Amino acid sequence: MPTVRDLKTKAGNEPITMLTAYDAPTAAIIDEAGTDIILVGDSLGNTSLGYETTLPVTVDDMARHTAAVARATDDALVVADMPFLSIGVDESASVENAGRMIKEADAHAVKLECGPHTVDLTEKLVQLGIPVMAHLGLTPQHVNQYGGYPRQGTDQEAAERILELAEAHADAGAFSLVLEHVPANLAADVTQALETPTIGIGAGPDCDGQVLVIDDVVGLSEWSPSFSKQFGNVRAEMESAVDDYVSAVESGEFPAEEHSHEEADLEELY
Ligand code: KIV
Repeated sequence: MPTVRDLKTKAGNEPITMLTAYDAPTAAIIDEAGTDIILVGDSLGNTSLGYETTLPVTVDDMARHTAAVARATDDALVVADMPFLSIGVDESASVENAGRMIKEADAHAVKLECGPHTVDLTEKLVQLGIPVMAHLGLTPQHVNQYGGYPRQGTDQEAAERILELAEAHADAGAFSLVLEHVPANLAADVTQALETPTIGIGAGPDCDGQVLVIDDVVGLSEWSPSFSKQFGNVRAEMESAVDDYVSAVESGEFPAEEHSHEEADLEELY
């Protein structure tokens, strides 16, 4: 398993790879492919729980899915996302919720959607032994403030605010910084300015690593953002398999002889 320290060494040499996962079989596939980090994102809400946004996702949801991912992962670093309002309201509740991901769900680190309110919390968690990945730029838990999921850091003032927040979280001890949906040149500047590795999503090629949502990568999502790339078509495969199953049951073709057995000694019951 790469430690948070290994990631720092890797940054700048070889790109860091990160993907989301929400269940054990998917985590096993991602882990066996040699992915550095598996993020149990609160995108769980959209991908797997049928919500429109990530806001309804609970700490219990995250703990259960993180534990499933951790059980199936041998090598990758497992990072649990902290869901909406589970951190930042009250320090002791934030520490307790983040602690659950480590103690109960076996994550190695937590990810926080960050703002000025998470700098001190990052320092506290790191002091307590909970490694923190800081998420900056587009933070989807602010959907109601944004009115959607717009690109962030597009003017000078906003770009400077993102750089300052990145510096503050790096100084507070965050081991990596996710930069979401920001201009590539801003992400390149943040990456240049800081030793803490950056992991981009919709942030151009110059970050130390890249992350995408697994459903987008394998082609399972109904919709995916323009900065994502589909590398497979699992939805089409599933649709075809399910159609074939329904037809086979309806036609009587399934189950066939090889899927059933008869007990010769069993007497007729009626
Ligand atoms: O929840 C998530 O999947 C994320 C990634 C997109 C970075 O936050």
